[in-house]
Amino acid sequence: MKRILITGALGQIGSELTMKCREIYGEDQVIATDIRQPKDEKLSNGPFEILDVMDGNKFLEYVKKYRVDSILHLAALLSATAENHPLKAWKLNMDGLLNALETSRLVKAQFFTPSSIGAFGPSTPKNNTPQVTLQRPTTMYGINKVAGELLSDYYFYKYGVDTRGLRFPGLISYLTPPGGGTTDYAIEIYEEALKNGRYTCYLAKGTSLDMMYMPDALAAILDLMEAESSKLKHRNSYNVTAMSVTPGDFAKEIQKHLPHFVMDYNVDPVRQRIADSWPNSIDAAAAKSEWGFKPAYDLENMTIDMLEKLTKQNSYF
Ligand code: SER
Repeated sequence: MKRILITGALGQIGSELTMKCREIYGEDQVIATDIRQPKDEKLSNGPFEILDVMDGNKFLEYVKKYRVDSILHLAALLSATAENHPLKAWKLNMDGLLNALETSRLVKAQFFTPSSIGAFGPSTPKNNTPQVTLQRPTTMYGINKVAGELLSDYYFYKYGVDTRGLRFPGLISYLTPPGGGTTDYAIEIYEEALKNGRYTCYLAKGTSLDMMYMPDALAAILDLMEAESSKLKHRNSYNVTAMSVTPGDFAKEIQKHLPHFVMDYNVDPVRQRIADSWPNSIDAAAAKSEWGFKPAYDLENMTIDMLEKLTKQNSYF
């Protein structure tokens, strides 16, 4: 990767990935794009363009203008929003992806897009879910993700586009909040614990889901993109995870630092149904052996870092 264009650059992954890429590849080498203008000085240290990923002509125009060789396509609706607006999700998640893939094909750019644990469904083996397994998701988001994995593979086999992807678990970060995801509780819980000493969780106490801290997610994207092409057998997309945890586990871990923290539950049926259709824990063996995936954070050291960074950022006390 030398000259990178990122879509959805103001989102949860995009905002941090843009900064990280600018640190590594140079500020002018990373073109951040999103459907809206940044509010503050965010991402102002390098090029920024307004780009609606549904507009294939504009997409190609910017990629040509900046002579981009790598596209990191992040613009998408997350699972809970997609479930509430399925047609909108199909259009944005699929047409946006097709435009991104077509643009990559036309300019021969390397390509990345995230898949998700949402690409699995109730008939997938729940524990230690293998890299290659049954994928019959029952959510619109999951259907988009499976179709996206297949399309990305198609562009590789048919056109030789260097497509790569990761099946992300819930991603935890303190800088930019996600929105409309089923795993968003895992961020809200830290913020609310510090702000109010309590949190009402919309998933049931024992709901196991895979999670990963944002620094590990960013490293995984960059390591995958820089991996030698001949080593990649699975491409779209690799299972990656750092921990399998429940809301109850988060509460216990936070109580080690904030003993008065209280958690209660008010289950949201839409998000609970989505979470119940996803695996409890996925197996990242292929990512480990093919390109050296190795997360640094578990629940314990992530919790220490989250509480420290959020406290610094917000001065709650
Ligand atoms: N964090 C995502 C979501 O909850 C999972 O891909 O939608």
